[in-house]
Amino acid sequence: MSQNVLVIGSGAREHAMVWKLAQSSRIGTLFCAPGNPGAAEVAQNLDIGVNDVEGIWSAIESNNIDLTIVGPEDPLAAGIADVLQERGHPVFGPSKAAARIESSKNWAKEIMLARNVPTGKALRCDTLEAALNHIYDAQFPLVLKADGLAAGKGVVICHERAEAEAAARSMMQEKTLGSAGTTVLIEEFLSGVEVSLLAVTDGQRVLPLLPACDYKPLKTGDRGPNTGGMGAYTPPAVADNAWVNTILNDVIGPVLAEMNDRGISYRGVLYAGVILTENGPKVLEFNCRFGDPETQVILPMLNTDFLELCDATARGNLSSIPALEWHDGACVGVVLAAGSYPGDYRKGAPIFGLDNVPEGGVVFHAGTASQNGAVVTNGGRVLTAVGRGPTMSAARDLAYRTATSITFPDAQYRDDIALREV
Ligand code: GLY
Repeated sequence: MSQNVLVIGSGAREHAMVWKLAQSSRIGTLFCAPGNPGAAEVAQNLDIGVNDVEGIWSAIESNNIDLTIVGPEDPLAAGIADVLQERGHPVFGPSKAAARIESSKNWAKEIMLARNVPTGKALRCDTLEAALNHIYDAQFPLVLKADGLAAGKGVVICHERAEAEAAARSMMQEKTLGSAGTTVLIEEFLSGVEVSLLAVTDGQRVLPLLPACDYKPLKTGDRGPNTGGMGAYTPPAVADNAWVNTILNDVIGPVLAEMNDRGISYRGVLYAGVILTENGPKVLEFNCRFGDPETQVILPMLNTDFLELCDATARGNLSSIPALEWHDGACVGVVLAAGSYPGDYRKGAPIFGLDNVPEGGVVFHAGTASQNGAVVTNGGRVLTAVGRGPTMSAARDLAYRTATSITFPDAQYRDDIALREV
């Protein structure tokens, strides 16, 4: 029986999802809302915004969609999964209550503390005065975190008092992040290698995906401002099966159990951002969705039917899925970004080479648009070039050959993704 599927979102993560879903033997018609020109190669794009719940519902009804998979956090935090589920529609993605694990950093800390999940010490500040008082006595560096969703701009690492004061005033007084910065956390700074572990769960069973490392700083050598992610690879050697089991037992399991005890069943993918400190792994953040760019390297490694996995999760039937199967080897993704990203960037520049990437290389679109039949830039992170291979070095070589086969004016990318793998 074939199934019509809708993916909500417009980034490289969502392109990777529809690319993988299109390989399923069960796929009927595939839709992406709003999608991008890359997604349009395998799915029918629907011109509906990710937060337009009634528009999405009407598309679900008129296109006989059997399953909806939500990519970004904003619609999940706003409760799209609750609305669709209440109307009897299977949806992959947690409820509004469960999405708080990402949409409130303070609530995530509360859940972790309740189960002794290892994480950095943090103090909640509801007023600027409280934040400034704490900053006055604090050790540096420290981390200032907006409680709410801030599109990747809510975490500031502060090396001295003046920097922390300025960040607190910006979030809490000038409201530069809107209501996301009404409450902040002042958190201890942790150093170490960061690994993302994503686990799919229907509230009962938990299936871990391959761990991955992403690269937040813009430039080679971890220099420059933080970004949404400039590349990723999987699997990191440091995160072997024993490590994955530790994170499942000490982090993901307890957090899901604590939510269950509070009457919140989690259905979708739970993303744990973990830092490997001298004192063991500690949680930096949780996300209520697939990571970007991690998804672009994890899904090409998956040898299990992704549609079956998402559908079983959405229907609370994950026990019907055998253990996940993965390709051997490794996968590397390199993000091609516009010239002045993460600042203001030019849009509308022609992209060359998309039809001529090396054999086996895959390109996932993010900030692209179609203009007079050509694909042009339309965002900060424009594309993710991906290579899979029998070894990390083969995967890296293919990813970079793919990245360098594509050109657009002022393109920038890091040249050290997966170079010093951990
Ligand atoms: N790679 C980080 C994120 O998806 O939030």
